[in-house]
Amino acid sequence: MTALLRAEGLYKSFGERDVLQGVSLELAAHEVVAVIGASGSGKSTLLRCLNLLEPIDDGLIMLGDEDISDPRVDANRVRARFGAVFQSFNLFPHLSVLDNVTLSARVVHKIPRRDAEARALALLDRVGLADKARDHPDRLSGGQQQRAAIARAISTNPEVLLLDEITSALDPELVGEVLELVRQLAVDGATILMATHEMAFARDVAHRVIFLDGGRILEQGPPAEVFGAPREPRTREFLARFTA
Ligand SMILES: Nc1ncnc2c1ncn2[C@@H]1O[C@H](COP(=O)(O)OP(=O)(O)OP(=O)(O)O)[C@@H](O)[C@H]1O
Ligand SMILES: [Mg+2]
Repeated sequence: MTALLRAEGLYKSFGERDVLQGVSLELAAHEVVAVIGASGSGKSTLLRCLNLLEPIDDGLIMLGDEDISDPRVDANRVRARFGAVFQSFNLFPHLSVLDNVTLSARVVHKIPRRDAEARALALLDRVGLADKARDHPDRLSGGQQQRAAIARAISTNPEVLLLDEITSALDPELVGEVLELVRQLAVDGATILMATHEMAFARDVAHRVIFLDGGRILEQGPPAEVFGAPREPRTREFLARFTA
């Protein structure tokens, strides 16, 4: 396996709190990996460190052939190679959905407005929001906002998509439409690292599941193994909470 994204020995502390304690992982092109673990286990921090939203204290991060953990790299340029969607809707409220989706293509990637808009409209169509392009985000449901955020995240053809609990702020009836979109991206060959509490979805869509416990990867493997026959007592304990 040639890794598209490779992290080795990541350490991250906030003050006295050691949040990542030597995390190493690899993500192959077109692989879908779910990161599960209790609240506070470091899932978001891991994702934020990988796309340089948080500086690491120690470790190595390779994206393709580039050492992106080198302090001399231009973090903005590197971040533009990732697409990221977070739990709470992070669309710009003062911009239309269309402008939200075209913004980074136009500003970061210097794509002409006409081309960016043509592509954005095609993407909005793909996520089922063609008729919302001119609306502002506050006119959309939570599920529609997350689908717009996903359209924005993939608008620049990112090499890796980082999804951080993108359904956990949604009303239950809106979760399905967002997960269905992620499933489609996965089928279409996107490379995805997602932190999630949606165990059924992870089991269904992920190629591999990583269980993070206290800032360490305690166990990982195909979903059938991690969910069906977890080796570690702490994994079993964690999963039992979801089936109770
Ligand atoms: N910017 C920060 N400053 C200080 N502490 C932080 C910061 N970000 C995260 N932490 C702490 O790091 C630990 C891990 O947080 P993180 O958000 O990565 O966990 P998580 O696994 O994503 O949890 P959840 O499932 O609740 O989203 C927590 O104890 C949190 O309080
Ligand atoms: Mg989190």
